[in-house]
Amino acid sequence: MSLKETINQRITEHLETTYTDDHAVRKLSQHYRREGYVKLPGLVPQSLFTETSQEVHRLLDLHEKRIDIHLAETGNSPRFMSTISQQAIAKDSELIPAIYESEALMGFLSRLAAQPVVQCPWDEEKYIAIRQHKQGDTHGWHWGDFSFTVIWIIEAPEAKYGGQLQTVPHTDWNKQDPRVEEYLQQHPIKTWGHATGDLYFLRSDTTLHRTIPLNADRTRIILNTCWGSESDAKKEASHETMHAMFD
Ligand SMILES: [Fe+2]
Repeated sequence: MSLKETINQRITEHLETTYTDDHAVRKLSQHYRREGYVKLPGLVPQSLFTETSQEVHRLLDLHEKRIDIHLAETGNSPRFMSTISQQAIAKDSELIPAIYESEALMGFLSRLAAQPVVQCPWDEEKYIAIRQHKQGDTHGWHWGDFSFTVIWIIEAPEAKYGGQLQTVPHTDWNKQDPRVEEYLQQHPIKTWGHATGDLYFLRSDTTLHRTIPLNADRTRIILNTCWGSESDAKKEASHETMHAMFD
């Protein structure tokens, strides 16, 4: 069996034994559609999370690149962090692409999204990793170009040091006129804390989101895996913010 088949089988068996209650899955789906967010700590087997965590640390040592920029397309919000691009991960990892391509994983996410979750039509947004470690590091307010994102919390600082996710669901990204401050004034902002080992599913294209800046030199590492909707596959997207962060 290829690695891709083995990984898909492990995820299949895990999901079949973990999410046995249809109504519980429906409630997760409702939470996701209401909030643009749902925490999914049991999405993958613990052993697979551990292997992925080791892989992300290995890739950071090889490829991480520091950025300190502000992006006009999201109202000049900051990106202070180190990044690893999709191309770097694709070149040096078999595990992460195998997880990404798992039909079982996409099938379960489709149940939560209540629509088909398909591979991202733009390769460079399929999987990336980010490490924040300096005081002030933050992934400032932004949206994604594509719909469905799973964030793997490889390492999270204690809550008192920041790094939490904040969200404003059901908002749209107009790159010429992002109106970030207006959305923040008009709608409640929710804050979601995470511990090392958590996973969450984010409706990334219509949920304005950021991470709270670290208030001390502490480490927050994530793996970001992103899929598209069927309509994402048809639309013409531009990728200014991704090019600025990962090229
Ligand atoms: Fe994001």
